[in-house]
Amino acid sequence: MKERFMAKRSLLVGFGGFLPDRVVSNAELAERLETSDEWIKTRTGITRRHLVGPNDTAASMGAEAARRALDYAGLTAEDIDAVFVATATPDQAFPATAVRIQAALGMKQGFGFDIAAACSGFIFALSTADAFIRSGQIRNALVIGSEVYSRIMDWEDRATCVLFGDGAGAVVLSASDEPGDRGILSTHLHSDGTAGDLLYVDGAVGQPDKSGHLKMSGRDVFRHAVGKLSSSVDEALEAEGLSYADVDWLVPHQANIRIIEGVAKKLNLPAERVVITVDRHANTSAASVPLALDEAVRDGRIQKGDLVLMEALGGGLTWGSALVRL
Ligand code: UT7
Repeated sequence: MKERFMAKRSLLVGFGGFLPDRVVSNAELAERLETSDEWIKTRTGITRRHLVGPNDTAASMGAEAARRALDYAGLTAEDIDAVFVATATPDQAFPATAVRIQAALGMKQGFGFDIAAACSGFIFALSTADAFIRSGQIRNALVIGSEVYSRIMDWEDRATCVLFGDGAGAVVLSASDEPGDRGILSTHLHSDGTAGDLLYVDGAVGQPDKSGHLKMSGRDVFRHAVGKLSSSVDEALEAEGLSYADVDWLVPHQANIRIIEGVAKKLNLPAERVVITVDRHANTSAASVPLALDEAVRDGRIQKGDLVLMEALGGGLTWGSALVRL
């Protein structure tokens, strides 16, 4: 029988990201839609986005982000006990994207499954992996967010199609009993299905007669995002007995610069302490937080020992936060 290792905490030890090659500017979208670079930039902060080519999928991009995260951690796929993939755009209804990624990495051990929490998916997956690690069931996990929202867009609907991009991000989590407070301090998850019709995909494998396109009441989701993310931030800090001044970095879900700035203002965090990718990636849903984290760790902004607050809100509605000492 495999020996259980009772971890004090889960440490984030590897980071990886993948963005498909094709970059589409606002101006390019404005050539065929009644929109403008000015409108998109002012309302959202987005200037461009990466979109998949015919051979990219949630599994292929997730596997590449995972390889990069493993390299960073100095681990191999053989060291991994479980793969948790947050995606709303899986390659297939089943096998799970996580299992396809396991195979792409050459893993025959361990297990994997997908987590469906839309744009909050990465926070939900991180929380799930952390619980498995702290229960002693696994030691090392890959937590991946991978999305191809370009395939669920109505490309005639200017109110939604300009907002999203494709990509994948990954972290490696490892069990640790080292003294001190490095690692995931706590996560807080919420969902409220009564608001399910504010942001949803119209159809899926179970309802093939529907369009399969993303639909959003943007203004209502915006209102929920500002309120719920603000209370999420308070909930996370209160749970750990910490204050706004303790937060070194905000790594938010990247849906709209105005939502991000609202939360940063509440925390009294200067702009240079907030990791922003929405300008170049647009909203990559469950991939946005790990992509932002990867960028800021690799360019040296986020350092070992920093207190990082991640938060997200998405279709469901789902929302949550993770407070991590890197
Ligand atoms: O990641 C999941 C969570 N998602 C979010 O957090 C998204 C939250 N919502 C938002 O970020 C914003 O609500 C949007 C960016 C989606 C929209 O911004 P807004 O300031 O709330 O604009 P609006 O929806 O109130 O639309 C304002 C106007 C409308 O025209 P009228 O009715 O005022 O004449 C829209 O038809 O802008 C129009 N509009 C556009 N105009 C040019 C909508 N989309 C576009 C467009 N280009 N692409």
